[in-house]
Amino acid sequence: MARIVITSGPTRQYLDPVRYLTNGSSGRMGAALAKAALDLGHSVTVISGPVSAPYPDGAQVIDVVSTQEMLDAAESAFENADGLIGAAAPCDYMPQHIEPQKMSKTGAGLQLSLIETPDIVATLGAKKKPGQWVVGFALETEDIRFRAIVKMSRKCCDMIVSNCATAMNAEDNDVEVIASDGTILGQISGPKTDVARGILAHIQSRLIAPIHSK
Ligand code: C5P
Repeated sequence: MARIVITSGPTRQYLDPVRYLTNGSSGRMGAALAKAALDLGHSVTVISGPVSAPYPDGAQVIDVVSTQEMLDAAESAFENADGLIGAAAPCDYMPQHIEPQKMSKTGAGLQLSLIETPDIVATLGAKKKPGQWVVGFALETEDIRFRAIVKMSRKCCDMIVSNCATAMNAEDNDVEVIASDGTILGQISGPKTDVARGILAHIQSRLIAPIHSK
């Protein structure tokens, strides 16, 4: 049995008390991964941004809103975990300054000054202890495989799941699973539940079984 942390869904970065930046992630891939991991007998902690999709019974769910909150919760859960699956689509930018009151329209438009949020997978990838593993996702619109491999190395992932933009907020997915040495382990397409089972099978054989058989 492995202890697996899954980040899932979008995060929000508020501009003022009512407006925020986010993306269309539904959390469905994270929910499907949680179910597939539970079905294999693993324990699962999901760190989720605001989503309406339900997570399976049996998963411990920690709700967060911002990318920093997702990082804080993931860092703490990862301390006692064997692996992290970064299936979330955290908001990559946040305003340099959050207005404490709702901004009023002036008729002159609005200039936003944005800074990057922390990268959860890269932070935990850089800190992982011997025996811990990190699986990232990569969503690209061009040079998909090459960029996924570069990302895997930059974020110190042990495996990466490459998908394209049509995966966002969709029922189905079409992914390529790539090992840390660049080997293409397989291409899986279909409903996210089937894709998640296929991804977990690769994680089980490449990352979990070798450690548990030591
Ligand atoms: O760089 P990009 O957003 O495409 O990387 C995708 C991977 O990095 C996914 O695994 C996603 O969950 C993770 N990520 C993260 N924190 C961010 C941005 C992305 O963990 N701020």
